[in-house]
Amino acid sequence: MTGFQLQPEFQAGEDFAITMDECDLLQEFRQRFLFPKIAGNDCVYLCGHSLGLQPKTAAAYVEEELEDWAQLGVEGHFRAKHPWMPYHRLLTEQTAELVGAKPVEVVVMNSLTVNLHLMMVSFYRPTPGRHKIVVERGAFPSDQYAVKSQIHFHGFDPETSLIELSPLPGESCLRDEQIETLIERSGDEIALILLGGVNYATGQAFDMAGITRAGHARGCVVGFDLAHAAGNLQLKLHEWGPDFAVWCSYKYLNAGPGCAAGCFVHDRHARAWDLPRFAGWWGHDEESRFEMGPNFRAMSGAEGWQLSNPSIISLAVLRASMDIFHEAGMERLRAKSISLTSYLEFLLNQNTSAHFSITTPRETERRGAQLSIRVPQNGRALCEGLTGEGILGDWREPDTFRVAPVPLYNSYRDAFRFVKRFTAAIR
Ligand SMILES: Cc1ncc(COP(=O)(O)O)c(C=O)c1O
Repeated sequence: MTGFQLQPEFQAGEDFAITMDECDLLQEFRQRFLFPKIAGNDCVYLCGHSLGLQPKTAAAYVEEELEDWAQLGVEGHFRAKHPWMPYHRLLTEQTAELVGAKPVEVVVMNSLTVNLHLMMVSFYRPTPGRHKIVVERGAFPSDQYAVKSQIHFHGFDPETSLIELSPLPGESCLRDEQIETLIERSGDEIALILLGGVNYATGQAFDMAGITRAGHARGCVVGFDLAHAAGNLQLKLHEWGPDFAVWCSYKYLNAGPGCAAGCFVHDRHARAWDLPRFAGWWGHDEESRFEMGPNFRAMSGAEGWQLSNPSIISLAVLRASMDIFHEAGMERLRAKSISLTSYLEFLLNQNTSAHFSITTPRETERRGAQLSIRVPQNGRALCEGLTGEGILGDWREPDTFRVAPVPLYNSYRDAFRFVKRFTAAIR
């Protein structure tokens, strides 16, 4: 029972928002997070797509490790309450649950862009006949830099090896059939399809199952950047079958700036010892790691791509957040998210104006929690003005104001207050 299945007709008044909050079965989770304050008041925080809020329990999780370090020193690797040697495994079950994977398919390590490179080292294997990478035009810059540098690294030229999918003229988002047509037409030249699960600028969610199916049917490797999808959408990575996926944990996953990232490698590759990979000792067979031998033998599964021993402090914060996710459950979170984002959209549509438009798809299955609002004139100043009042979204050049009502900690009143101030400022 999600509590959101029977969707009432939305109403424009604040009373409706208050009633919805009162009926929200997830409302108590809001109390578990620390909201930034302006003039002593909680912000309306709609920036979870960029940096999620701090769980109140994070400090205690970190304190526990600091205390064990103080008391045990190096012995903490084996004798800490949660020994640091296998600490990353404390996150395996919950991470697998979060992204719909088998435990062997996931690991938390490094940062997103590092993991993306590690995955491309193994899964981008260009040949003269099949060397192209497909990305969204305007993919997140780090992804663009990463794919172009990989193309150069293999002696190819992005001019001829990079295919950037653009929306049709006059449209903001890609159509599914554009992606299918490209794969159908050019599939045998494509080495790798690398798309965001949710596009960072428009908030468009892609049909990851369909793209994977189409790509594999034409012999392409398929990978996803899930920076804006992890903790936002209900993912079924094992079932959908992409070869790999990477994501960060500081957005919807609330694990703090620069926290360790996630990586998925489908279990069909779990024992693919012949795949080239960049190796480090933490990916080496655990049983013999401390024999300090010269030859690398990878662990099976995603763990075999680890390089270094991870930052325990960083993983401690992620544990605090993942425990909350586990308790709330992605199914309930997604149900509330659909309702809350639709409500935000409804309120914005009550205030139509030539000065703004929503570029995120209208269909709930083609988006997550984020709405991107195009503000062609003076949008940056408007965004900064709202920030000064404690209404936090963020601005992306050239014309996009992004807001995300996050189901874990945002309320219907947050959406109401945002729209009230946003539309007043627009006027
Ligand atoms: C879609 C996307 N990809 C990649 C990155 C880069 O992440 P990192 O700095 O953790 O490597 C971000 C960061 O915001 C992002 O939004």
